[in-house]
Amino acid sequence: MIKVKNLYHSYSNDENYAVNDVSFEVEEGEIFGFLGPSGAGKSTTQNILTGLLQLQKGEVEVAGYDVKHIKNKMFNKIGMSFEQSNVYNKMSGLENLEFYRKLFDVETRNPMDLIKMVGLDGKENIKAGKYSKGMKHRLTFARSMINNPEIWFLDEPTTGLDPSIASEIKDIIKQENKKGVTIFLTTHNMYIADELCNRVAFIVDGKVRLIDSPKELKLKYGEKLVEVEYFNKGELIKENFSTVVEEEKNKLIEVIKHNDIQTMHTKEATLEEIFIKVTGRGLV
Ligand SMILES: Nc1ncnc2c1ncn2[C@@H]1O[C@H](COP(=O)(O)OP(=O)(O)O)[C@@H](O)[C@H]1O
Ligand SMILES: [Mg+2]
Repeated sequence: MIKVKNLYHSYSNDENYAVNDVSFEVEEGEIFGFLGPSGAGKSTTQNILTGLLQLQKGEVEVAGYDVKHIKNKMFNKIGMSFEQSNVYNKMSGLENLEFYRKLFDVETRNPMDLIKMVGLDGKENIKAGKYSKGMKHRLTFARSMINNPEIWFLDEPTTGLDPSIASEIKDIIKQENKKGVTIFLTTHNMYIADELCNRVAFIVDGKVRLIDSPKELKLKYGEKLVEVEYFNKGELIKENFSTVVEEEKNKLIEVIKHNDIQTMHTKEATLEEIFIKVTGRGLV
């Protein structure tokens, strides 16, 4: 659905690249995450893929269209939600959607259904200019799926939202993906990437450092440890045991045999810990 090969982008038309030799492919039906700290080049990449920024160097194919010569037809097939909401302030939420749907040559969704979906019902007749930042973000999000996109580009879809709304947005993303929508999601939030993405690309300083599934990454980079809390002579002891080092495995068995176990947890590396290990950088 998406093919990117040796993509570069410079805002200053020199060798100072915000996107620096990026290549990846996104399969149909996948949720593909672009995970990296602020300034990594995520939004720049999304903006090139969706035709907002002109392609300078590299090959990009989206939904079967070469992005170098964008055809309007491509916009019927994609949806895009941006980091900064760009809704029409003088129109109500509902009018925004009614207006936007007219831009497409394909069947569109009922605006009121979308308004309800993102929890803006009751507010649909208020001018978008009066909406809070979070409400505008939800309207932009709703708008981005009005044309039933085959590929849905989401830039930081839950950033700045209340946890309960963020969780609803995540559910909508999962729901749409179940219907077969391919999703390109950029985020600096490891929880979102971990929960939603089939595969993630780690991006830092315009470069993709690794692409893999969160599950594989945890298996590869996770320390195989069990944390055990147990009573020994009335004293509560907390201890970590490796599940791969023979000696520690035996110790663990002894502890289980002879002590009163209180808790026992496997310790998994988080995506952020793995990100730091791989890139030497954090996610903020
Ligand atoms: N319009 C712009 N003009 C000049 N530099 C920009 C512009 N937009 C982004 N940049 C720079 O490009 C780099 C990547 O930015 P961006 O793609 O927004 O990163 P991310 O989305 O990962 O936070 C950053 O160094 C940023 O300052
Ligand atoms: Mg960004």
